[in-house]
Amino acid sequence: MRKKIIAGNWKMNADKDEALALVNGILAQYDDYNLSDTKIVVVASPFPYIHYCSSMFAKYPNMFAAAQNCSEHEQGAYTGEVSAKIIASLEVKYVIIGHSERRQYFHETNEVLLQKIHQAQKKDLIPVFCCGEPLEIREQNEHFNFIKAQLEECIFQLSENELKNTVIAYEPIWAIGTGKTASPEQAQEVHAFIRNEIAEKYDKEIAEQISILYGGSVNAKNAEELFACKDIDGGLVGGASLKADEFAAIIKSMK
Ligand code: 13P
Repeated sequence: MRKKIIAGNWKMNADKDEALALVNGILAQYDDYNLSDTKIVVVASPFPYIHYCSSMFAKYPNMFAAAQNCSEHEQGAYTGEVSAKIIASLEVKYVIIGHSERRQYFHETNEVLLQKIHQAQKKDLIPVFCCGEPLEIREQNEHFNFIKAQLEECIFQLSENELKNTVIAYEPIWAIGTGKTASPEQAQEVHAFIRNEIAEKYDKEIAEQISILYGGSVNAKNAEELFACKDIDGGLVGGASLKADEFAAIIKSMK
């Protein structure tokens, strides 16, 4: 059975006191989350708090720390970069790869993202690979082709086993930080498309095993309806993951 995953992406937010308060606030309601091997929570904090998160979560089953990025290089003279090896040594289990903000502001290409995924998987980190179209592509009704190219140029280069250890997040760029969520129908349509592409490229059984998360203005009000869709296996939550009570409510809305 594929995993249901609620992942928070704090992006470049929260100072140390705010970060500690947020972790403690999320954990305060842990007993109400009913987590299991197939329903987990992932929190991607900025790097400086990552070890605090992983140490705290170690005491709470099925809660995991994640990184928001990793280097495409294994190690060496890359000032300011953080390798998969460093991340994995801090008991972190997941890493977001290819967020649209990294693609846009740091010019990360699908080719570089594939290298990052390989680095991550070499260290047993599970990549959360992000894909999704900008507004003009959606308006031209070209989003399926756009997403297909992102998949083909990156994660469809992986072996079956590598793909099985990858999570996909569909994040339409027009829905990120805009308060304009994709409707459950719009999101479900793309998730089903992605799953079908996996079935065609690999096989149906693998497609059924891969978790596909939706991201883009998920909040406590719209989460339940989105998560009820057949091919939506959870959410990658930005702004709403910075408020402990709201993030807790989103986790609780995953049945
Ligand atoms: P928002 O939830 O703030 O729209 O951000 C989504 C996102 O980019 C998560 O990675």
